[in-house]
Amino acid sequence: MAINKQEHAQWSSSFGFVLAAVGSAVGLGNIWKFPYMVGESGGSAFVIAYLFCIALVGFPILVAEWLIGRRGQKNPVNTFSDVAATEGKSRSWGIVGATGILGGFLILSFYSVIGGWALNYITKVATGSFAGQDSDSVAATFDAMLASAGTLTIWHTVFMILTAVIVGIGVTSGIEKTAKILMPLLGVILFVIVGYNVMNGGFGEAVAYLFTPDLSKLTADVMLAALGHAFFTLSIGMGIMVAYGSYLGREVNLLKTARTVVILDTVIALAAGLAIFPIIFSNGLDPASGPGLIFVSLPIAFGSMGAGTIIGALFFLLITFAAITSSISLLEPTVELLEERTSMSRTVSTIVASTVIWLLGIAALLSFNLWSDFTIMGNGIFDALDKLTSKFLLPLTGLAAIVFVGWKMDQRNIQQELGLSNGTWQLWQIVAKFIAPIAVIVVFVTSLMG
Ligand code: PHE
Ligand code: NA
Repeated sequence: MAINKQEHAQWSSSFGFVLAAVGSAVGLGNIWKFPYMVGESGGSAFVIAYLFCIALVGFPILVAEWLIGRRGQKNPVNTFSDVAATEGKSRSWGIVGATGILGGFLILSFYSVIGGWALNYITKVATGSFAGQDSDSVAATFDAMLASAGTLTIWHTVFMILTAVIVGIGVTSGIEKTAKILMPLLGVILFVIVGYNVMNGGFGEAVAYLFTPDLSKLTADVMLAALGHAFFTLSIGMGIMVAYGSYLGREVNLLKTARTVVILDTVIALAAGLAIFPIIFSNGLDPASGPGLIFVSLPIAFGSMGAGTIIGALFFLLITFAAITSSISLLEPTVELLEERTSMSRTVSTIVASTVIWLLGIAALLSFNLWSDFTIMGNGIFDALDKLTSKFLLPLTGLAAIVFVGWKMDQRNIQQELGLSNGTWQLWQIVAKFIAPIAVIVVFVTSLMG
């Protein structure tokens, strides 16, 4: 995984591990995807469903994946089958590792396209394209980018090459150490934008929109979207956290570590919401405008705030960086599997995996322009990849992980490993055995029927 064994040995604490996990978790999911999903699902209903899913499903599954990974000490496929075998269960649990790897592979194809948008926006903002622009011309700039297959391909390619080079030459842990400086900076800039919003209107409206409960909008679809996003944003249901778990020392407290990751991830997402929605409302934009939401809103603020060019360029640079610490974690499992299971070297494995992913990404980006009429069950290719992973592969893989930990593993060992007293242990069991799995199943089945 992103941490290799040698370097892992040099880390004296679990801090390196937290960096890697936060690096994977915090990314485009928080800043690009969360706000537009909120907008598409009508605001607070999504936010509330999301917070529930994070706490009652995402958090326990994150812990479950680390638990399994720490036992297995191998790649997700072998880990699942080995841990199952030691518990006297079928080796076919290895399939769960495989669906996880497939999920990561598919996600990276469209993740890289959006990483490309962020890269492109660094140059756009830095060259002053948005200075003094109103919302119409900011939207026109975005639409022009989307309409140009060539532009999208170039930036998608650059993003994919950056990811592949980092994974191929194996400097992922160096990148994660840089994250220690750049991630907090991203947080600071988000709060600068929030501060700007407090002064420039729309803030109260945004807070009401995000947090005033309106349960009438809480449909099965919103629940499924929130559930899928909980998986996406925490990088769970994919084998990534299982693989990370294999680097966890015995002494690391899983619950505390998971709490840190979940809280950081959630705070960044909510801050992104408070950075974006006031701009949406004060400029009369449509919150439901989809994946372009941050690209048609934030540049308006950068175009009018003091030092907006620098702050804006830095902002998109930092988002790109956050996206890369996530994309390397998406590419690594596929590369590792190829390296272990075939005679290909790491370099060749990286080139093969990233080329296939890159091609799939091209198909995804063409759905914004040349292939916009082509749909799979009513979705363009980009949406189809997104939905297949977030609403299907990730929840099912995560469900398998929590069922495995809740029902298949020796429970006394787990209580000891989590270091829980009897009371808290009972709470954990209720969540792991019942609440989390049932929530996934119910949400899943109702939305299939609806
Ligand atoms: N969690 C990352 C984000 O929110 C995306 C990601 C998903 C990364 C799955 C790795 C695995 O941006
Ligand atoms: Na995230």
